[in-house]
Amino acid sequence: MLMEFPELKISHLIPRYPIIQGGMALRVSTAPLAAAVANAGGIGVIGASAMSIDELRNEIRTARKFTKGIIGVNIMFAIRQFASLVQSAIEEKIDLIFTGAGFSRDVFRWGKEAGIPIVPIVSSSKLAKIAERQGATAIVAEGAEAGGHLGTDRSIMDILPEIVSAVKVPVIAAGGIVDGKGIAKVIRLGASGVQMATRFVLSVECAVSEAFKQMYLKAKAEDVVIISSPVGMPGRALRNAFADKIISGNVPKPDGCDGCLKNCSQEYCIVKALENSRIGQVDDGVVFVGNNVHQIKEILPVQTIIDKLVKEFAEEPENAVME
Ligand SMILES: Cc1cc2nc3c(=O)[nH]c(=O)nc-3n(C[C@H](O)[C@H](O)[C@H](O)COP(=O)(O)O)c2cc1C
Repeated sequence: MLMEFPELKISHLIPRYPIIQGGMALRVSTAPLAAAVANAGGIGVIGASAMSIDELRNEIRTARKFTKGIIGVNIMFAIRQFASLVQSAIEEKIDLIFTGAGFSRDVFRWGKEAGIPIVPIVSSSKLAKIAERQGATAIVAEGAEAGGHLGTDRSIMDILPEIVSAVKVPVIAAGGIVDGKGIAKVIRLGASGVQMATRFVLSVECAVSEAFKQMYLKAKAEDVVIISSPVGMPGRALRNAFADKIISGNVPKPDGCDGCLKNCSQEYCIVKALENSRIGQVDDGVVFVGNNVHQIKEILPVQTIIDKLVKEFAEEPENAVME
């Protein structure tokens, strides 16, 4: 028997394919990428952290112009503006909200009142259970293979079965999934869908600079490192001059601060560092990336990426032995 996609049902939302494009802050995932993923049958997600309220509203409206598909936003709880960004997304009638790096009791209440599913991103069965009890409609289980801030050092393959058996809501697996084979592996472990980010950075529609994409394309397995982030969590990024400075403790302190994070160690400015890399100053910035970037060989249009994922997945035997 060949594999078939499970139906991913997040409340009333059922995408054609159970594939979510992970939200990527600092304008890595904006309206063009999110709309392209939604048009191709997945769920497109705008990374809202560090956007102003007006910018987020504008991104949501732009995405809506280009698609009738499902569009979400990802807002990190660590952002000082968390509550107002969530409220604005709700006012814009966003389809669903992903909360990364923590969550509050309030967000589930706001989502419930507005009829908008709240999907927290967690890395342990303990947090998954708490999130379900507070009203999560689905849960993203994110393993250590993921790009960006990390809530665990354990593989998605280890935490996923624990989280699947701890909750009744659908569990979406994230971290290191770059092809149909990777999707099949987590579906066999009980995931109802996947969240993928790194694969979608290497798309035509992703708005990052060419230099950012070329760093991804040239990356070898050993170029992916763990850095500390002033947010208070480790992050997975590509090795470059800036990452070396963080690792050796010689990173420049912020030369100004607008207090964008609820808690910040001020070791360096993570917002400036991510923005630098997005606009092409990759040596002066942090390039967040997932662990399996080296397995991706080309930049493709989103539609082609999704077509390939669907084909590769369909060719996977249902009872394949796990590696
Ligand atoms: C460049 C980049 C930026 C990211 N920004 C965020 C973010 O703002 N909020 C969040 O919850 N996750 C963020 N992530 C994590 C992704 O949404 C996703 O869960 C994770 O990267 C999945 O692993 P993969 O990249 O190997 O597919 C980011 C990842 C990358 C690569």
